[in-house]
Amino acid sequence: MSKILVTGGAGFIGANFVHYWRREYPADTLVVLDALTYAGNPANLEAVKDYRNFHFVHGNILDQALTEGLLREHEIDTIVHFAAESHVDRSIHGPDAFIETNIVGTHSMLKAAREVWLTGSGRDHRFHHVSTDEVYGSLEPDDPPFAETTAYAPNSPYSASKAASDHLVRSYHHTYGLQVTISNCSNNYGPYQFPEKLIPLVVVNILTNRPLPIYGDGQNIRDWLYVDDHCRGIDLVLKKGVVGGVYNVGGNNEWTNIEIVRLICGLMDEQFAVDEGLKARFPDAPQVRGLKAASLITHVKDRLGHDRRYAIDAAKCRAELGYVPQESFATGIRRTIAWMLDNEPWWRAVMDGSYRDWLDRHYGKMRA
Ligand code: NAD
Ligand code: TYD
Repeated sequence: MSKILVTGGAGFIGANFVHYWRREYPADTLVVLDALTYAGNPANLEAVKDYRNFHFVHGNILDQALTEGLLREHEIDTIVHFAAESHVDRSIHGPDAFIETNIVGTHSMLKAAREVWLTGSGRDHRFHHVSTDEVYGSLEPDDPPFAETTAYAPNSPYSASKAASDHLVRSYHHTYGLQVTISNCSNNYGPYQFPEKLIPLVVVNILTNRPLPIYGDGQNIRDWLYVDDHCRGIDLVLKKGVVGGVYNVGGNNEWTNIEIVRLICGLMDEQFAVDEGLKARFPDAPQVRGLKAASLITHVKDRLGHDRRYAIDAAKCRAELGYVPQESFATGIRRTIAWMLDNEPWWRAVMDGSYRDWLDRHYGKMRA
C-alpha cells in the first residue's frame, strides 16, 4: 500500500489523478497539497473528500516546512508533483508566478523530499515530476515528434519554468540520489479542465454565445491526450519506470486548432439537434436562433511567440512500460462535451467566481 502526496490535486490533471488512483488503488492513502490559486477548485475533489484515507491540505509548495511535516505525519513514500502555474497566456502577461511556483516551488519540494527521505538511514521513495512536452520547443511540419532525447528549447515563460524544474529534478537524482522520475506529456483535455484552455473554452463559449477566439491562422498543431490516459501513463511510470528515467506520454493525435474548434462546433450542433431540452437550458446558444456554432469563430491576434507544432513520440513508454492510450479522440471529445453538459453548475461557478466561496467559508470574507 502506498501513501502518496499529490501536489496541485485540486487542479485539472491532479484531480483526475486523484479520482483515477482511488478507482485503481482504493486502499492507498492520498494527501493533496494545493494552494487553491485561481486554477484550484475544491469542487474537483468533492467526490472523494469524505474518504478515510483521503486528506486535503490547503497550503503552498513554497512552504518547505509544511511539506516536510506532511511527509513525516503521513509517512509518505511517493510524491506526484502536479502543482504549477500552467497557462501559457498568463505566463506571457505575468511570468513571476511561474518562476515562483514552477521553479522555486519545485525546488522547495525537492529540498523537503531530500531532508525527509534521504537523511539518516533513508527510506524507499519516489518523487515523480509531472512536466510538459512544451519544454522541447516548437516543431516544423516535417520534423519528427519529440523524443526523450530531443534537446530542450522552451519558448514561453511557462515552458522555460517547466524546463528549469525538470533540470532541478534531474540534478537531485544525479547529485543526491533522490529517486525521481519525470514524465513530459502532450496537451490534455477532459473533465475539470479550467475553461481558459482551448477545448473547455470553446464548449462554454458556444453554450453562452461568446466568440470562439482562434489565435492567428489557426494552423498551430497540438497533440491531444484524454486526461485519464495521462494518469494511466503516470501510474505505469511509478510502477515500472526506471529511477532517474524520463518518459514522454502522448496519444499520437495531432490536430490544428481550427480543426479542433470546427469538430467541437459540429458535435455541439449535433447535440442540439438530438436533445431538444438543450435549447431551453441554453437560450443564448446560436443553435436556438437556427445558427451553427461555427458562426461564433473569430480570428484574433496571435499569441506572442506562439509555438507552431507539438507532437510526442511515445515509443519509449510503449516499449518499456507497455503504455497504450485507451481513449480515442472521437470518444474522448464526446465524453468531455457530455461531462460539460452534465456539470453545468461546475463551469457556471467558475465563470461567476463562486467556486472561490470555499475560501470565504474557511477563512472568512477578509481574505486577500
Ligand atoms: P492547473 O492549472 O489546472 O492546476 C494547477 C494546480 O496547482 C491548481 O490546483 C493550483 O491551485 C495548484 N497550485 C498552483 N500553484 C501552487 C502552489 N504554489 N502551491 C500549491 N499548489 C499550487 O494545471 P493542470 O493543467 O492540471 O497541470 C498540472 C501539471 O501538469 C502541471 O505541472 C503542468 O505543467 C502539467 N501538464 C499539463 C498539461 C495540460 O495539458 N494541462 C500537459 C502536460 C503537463
Ligand atoms: P491552450 O489550451 O492554451 O494550451 P497550450 O498553449 O498549452 O498548448 O492552447 C491550445 C492551442 O489553442 C494553442 O495553440 C493556443 C490556441 N488557442 C486559441 O487559438 N484560442 C484560445 O482562446 C486559446 C485559449 C488557445
